Amino acid sequence: MKEKLQKIRERAIAEIQNSDGLEKLGEVRNTILGKKGELTAVLKGMKDVPPEDRPKVGQWVNETREAIESILAEQTKKLEAEALRLRYEAEKIDVTMPAVKPAKGNLHPITQVRNQLTDIFASMGFEIYEGTEIETDYYNFTALNTPQDHPARDMQDTFYLSPEFLLRTQTSAGQIHVMEAKKPPIKIISPGKVFRSDDDATHSPMFTQMEGLVVDKGITLCDLKGMLDEFVKKIFGKNVTTRLRPSYFPFTEPSVEVDVSCFQCGGKGCKLCKGTGWIEVLGAGVVNNKVLEGCGVDTNEYSGFAFGIGIERIAMLKYGINNIKLLFESDLRVLNQIDD
Ligand code: PHE
Repeated sequence: MKEKLQKIRERAIAEIQNSDGLEKLGEVRNTILGKKGELTAVLKGMKDVPPEDRPKVGQWVNETREAIESILAEQTKKLEAEALRLRYEAEKIDVTMPAVKPAKGNLHPITQVRNQLTDIFASMGFEIYEGTEIETDYYNFTALNTPQDHPARDMQDTFYLSPEFLLRTQTSAGQIHVMEAKKPPIKIISPGKVFRSDDDATHSPMFTQMEGLVVDKGITLCDLKGMLDEFVKKIFGKNVTTRLRPSYFPFTEPSVEVDVSCFQCGGKGCKLCKGTGWIEVLGAGVVNNKVLEGCGVDTNEYSGFAFGIGIERIAMLKYGINNIKLLFESDLRVLNQIDD
């Protein structure tokens, strides 16, 4: 019996020491100490041992069991430590490695420029009026001193929805709504989409404008010029100045095209400004008295200026985009580069 136990013990120890994983160790424990294990079988066979030998044999069995259990515990500890070491090794982080940049979205360039312009004008005390994209012929044209047969209607190729309704061709329609709703002083900007049947490298059938309207006592072209100078410095840089050229819009008199000195070459002449040193950025003027009167504004007391900025145009200039389509194609290779 002693020999048998000795054999069990030796084999158990060898198997335990050869176990290379906690699972394997569990199996070994089962085959020796489990319910149907070898040592358990010996215990069950105690009834066949002569009673006088039982205490002795019992002691041997216990000793064997203790010895096996202690070596099992030792091996378990060793294997657990090894498993932990391997886990640490696998999960090791090198904190000196450059971090993986999380993918980050950014606002569309049009939205970025729109927000920048809004911030600039808000800082000058302008309020925001949001008009509607579907307008009546009256607000888009007639009230802006452009009646049905007016030649200036040809300046904008219009999408008519019906003889009365159309997709607004200009945010200027908002001027009339604001003046009808509110007495001067008025100082608003109105950003939004406008629509014209126009399509080439610098024109898209849908584009974005920002209208501005100021109506108050004693407003002149000088106020417009002063405000614009301030505005272009904030958007293109502090060395940029403006130049006004005579132009024509039915709803302003006088009307001007506003150029900025080229922010790329400083006015010397380059590709961007086509060698002229100046870049056209917006249309503006003193609000035509006919428009004010049509909205019930007393022109003996009040006058105003208005301006309309093409947001795509500003975005193209600012970010060096030469085809307006790039702003509408949703190509992430382009859009990801623009994050001001
Ligand atoms: N509405 C004009 C356009 O779309 C721009 C403009 C606005 C001009 C306000 C003068 C005053 O071309």
